[in-house]
Amino acid sequence: MSKVRMGMVGGGPEAFIGQIHRMAAGLDGEIELVCGVFSRDQQKNQQAGQSLLSNPDRAYADIATLFREEQKLPADQRMEFVAIVTPNDSHFDIAQQAIMAGFHVFCEKPATFNLAESEQLHQQLLDKPQLFGLAHTYTGYPMVKEARHRVVKGELGEIKKIVVEYSQGWLAKKFNNQLSKQGSWRLDPKRAGVSCCVGDIGVHAANLAEFIGDSPISSILADLDSIEPQRSLDDDATVLLRFANQARGVLLASQISVGQENNLRIQVYGSQGSLSWSQQEPNSLWLMWGDKPTELLRAGSDYLCDEAKVNTRTPAGHPEGYIEAFANLYKAFATAVKQQRGSEPETSQANGVPGIQEAISGMQFIEGTVQSSHAGQQWLALNHTHIQEQ
Ligand SMILES: NC(=O)c1ccc[n+]([C@@H]2O[C@H](COP(=O)([O-])OP(=O)(O)OC[C@H]3O[C@@H](n4cnc5c(N)ncnc54)[C@H](O)[C@@H]3O)[C@@H](O)[C@H]2O)c1
Repeated sequence: MSKVRMGMVGGGPEAFIGQIHRMAAGLDGEIELVCGVFSRDQQKNQQAGQSLLSNPDRAYADIATLFREEQKLPADQRMEFVAIVTPNDSHFDIAQQAIMAGFHVFCEKPATFNLAESEQLHQQLLDKPQLFGLAHTYTGYPMVKEARHRVVKGELGEIKKIVVEYSQGWLAKKFNNQLSKQGSWRLDPKRAGVSCCVGDIGVHAANLAEFIGDSPISSILADLDSIEPQRSLDDDATVLLRFANQARGVLLASQISVGQENNLRIQVYGSQGSLSWSQQEPNSLWLMWGDKPTELLRAGSDYLCDEAKVNTRTPAGHPEGYIEAFANLYKAFATAVKQQRGSEPETSQANGVPGIQEAISGMQFIEGTVQSSHAGQQWLALNHTHIQEQ
């Protein structure tokens, strides 16, 4: 069975997430990186092509050339999907050109620079067979799958409250010029969009709350802040949440919490029981009850749901982490691509990838928090359009 052929835009030397994508995509041996535009700097682009591709001629100078030249290749050689791992301002342009040229898209979050672009992408996808996957990494963890399963099965009873936090400390520097390249563009409204912290990590927290809690956020009240007045975008966010199922919630996202690494954690409180999961200890899921002792569920155990088991690679006790969670999204995306080729039968495995629905919800959340905060911390309804499955 031939591997799924992947192209990449972004991810050149010194880039952050491109390298993680390559490791994750390669983990199960089902995906092969065949081409890309790794940097706008041609020297860096060629350097990446030489080290990453079996045919370095397939490191193209720009995206127009990438799509044009790949289209010319025989169907069994050409790229099947493109991974977009550039800063936020270019996601839309690359995605829409890819879809027009007949390629599937696996895109970094936030999906686009603004909501209007995600809505346009949705329109564009409506009459096309192309797939759109979104890199909401944390939904790939086995114990996140288990947490959602327990909520959906009703074990916790009616969901009453969700508290989700994503705290980092890497932007707690006084001056923007002390920041890394990654920090600089994230704080530039021309490259990042209307938000830094919410667009970068708050949107992951919102997605996790919606995924585990199985209900969309229906309204928000946000208070965004930045530690330095010269920063034009937020680096800290406190958001009150209401969900469509009437649950209440709190979302904390911060990049100025000194000493915090990637402290993403969530608590879900139901009428019968509660759960707690933390990304920094991802193999554990805690279930808490009013009338019996707390339970600790561990990844790799037989008692977990099928989805948690399918998304686990090693026996219990061997740490599985970020790259494996990412790889779970890639594995599901590769399955969906193969199903579309007709080379693999339909299975639910292909459903494990966030898509255009999550793209729109995420952009609504990002723009909504900025609007609510700027309006003086006002409640704001999020207009959740339910998108039909592709
Ligand atoms: N899912 C996650 O957990 C996660 C984590 C980190 C970053 N991200 C997202 O990934 C994206 C990239 O973030 P990063 O931190 O890796 O950025 P980065 O600055 O480290 O890397 C961006 C790369 O894209 C290249 N590039 C930029 N424009 C290009 C173009 N037009 N054509 C070709 N290459 C181009 C740059 O040269 C660089 O190699 C962002 O959208 C970010 O929000 C997601």
